[in-house]
Amino acid sequence: MHRIYYFSGTGNSYYLAKQFAKNFQKAELLSIAHLDRCEDVILDADVTGIFFPVYCGGVPPTVHKFLKRITLPEGGQKGRFLYAVCTSSGVPGAALPIVEDILAERSIDVKACFHIRMPSNYYPLSGALPEKQIKQIFQRAERALRIAAIMVKKRKKTHPLRVFPIDTFVKFVAGRAIATLANSDKAFRINEKCSSCEMCARICPASNITLDKENHPSWNHHCEQCMACLQWCPEGAIQYGKIDPARKKYHHPEVKAEELARPSED
Ligand SMILES: Cc1cc2nc3c(=O)[nH]c(=O)nc-3n(C[C@H](O)[C@H](O)[C@H](O)COP(=O)(O)O)c2cc1C
Ligand code: SF4
Ligand code: SF4
Repeated sequence: MHRIYYFSGTGNSYYLAKQFAKNFQKAELLSIAHLDRCEDVILDADVTGIFFPVYCGGVPPTVHKFLKRITLPEGGQKGRFLYAVCTSSGVPGAALPIVEDILAERSIDVKACFHIRMPSNYYPLSGALPEKQIKQIFQRAERALRIAAIMVKKRKKTHPLRVFPIDTFVKFVAGRAIATLANSDKAFRINEKCSSCEMCARICPASNITLDKENHPSWNHHCEQCMACLQWCPEGAIQYGKIDPARKKYHHPEVKAEELARPSED
């Protein structure tokens, strides 16, 4: 059995996980954001993959906590292949070494690590890239994904490059930057276009959004800044700080919000 866990704000990592799964018979896709956060994650599949985006050169807090919950089944890791795939806009920092180190604390060996460049979703820094550039990035990503699939099928090992003490320093900086994300949601606000559709609350992978009586969102300061609420809002009603609301939004064009959202409670 092949099990693939994914975490994704704007669909890049989810899209690659979904495409990757097509290379394998009976690969099961599971959203890290929708798992029971109190339960251990038992590494009992023959092959397990973890797809996630790079945040500030590190891993998103939900992914960090997920990695800490991974445990080995009776009999240990023998014969089980674990790999990680991170997506970033080009600077993966220490994300893959962080994954390896968290799991190594419990003697869990990440056999193969891959980085795939995807378009940036980091709205506070820049809007969506021009379509032509996005297309080129997707073409390269598809090639990188094919190579990764071949390597996983052959159970080939590959590890991220580590240059001591640079990676130790990058890990430290990433940790500090990620710690500031929780309160970054103070910059979110909505305008009059909000149609009370609830999508922002349903798609938030950190369950950080509650809705008031009018079904307008409020942010509760345990944000991971994944940008899902802002990028998926169907009305473009969510704004960030003083950024021009005309800045072009981005989410993966072949993913639908419903694929990432929690089911509606109605
Ligand atoms: C909070 C945040 C921090 C990010 N930090 C980095 C980074 O350090 N390096 C990088 O190359 N891309 C960075 N990105 C871009 C994402 O890693 C990239 O767009 C990713 O593919 C998004 O995946 P998703 O659509 O699955 O959420 C960051 C994005 C966010 C939201
Ligand atoms: S997704 Fe947008 S339109 Fe829907 S409730 Fe949230 S802010 Fe309002
Ligand atoms: S509040 Fe918005 S940016 Fe923050 S974690 Fe939730 S969806 Fe992502």
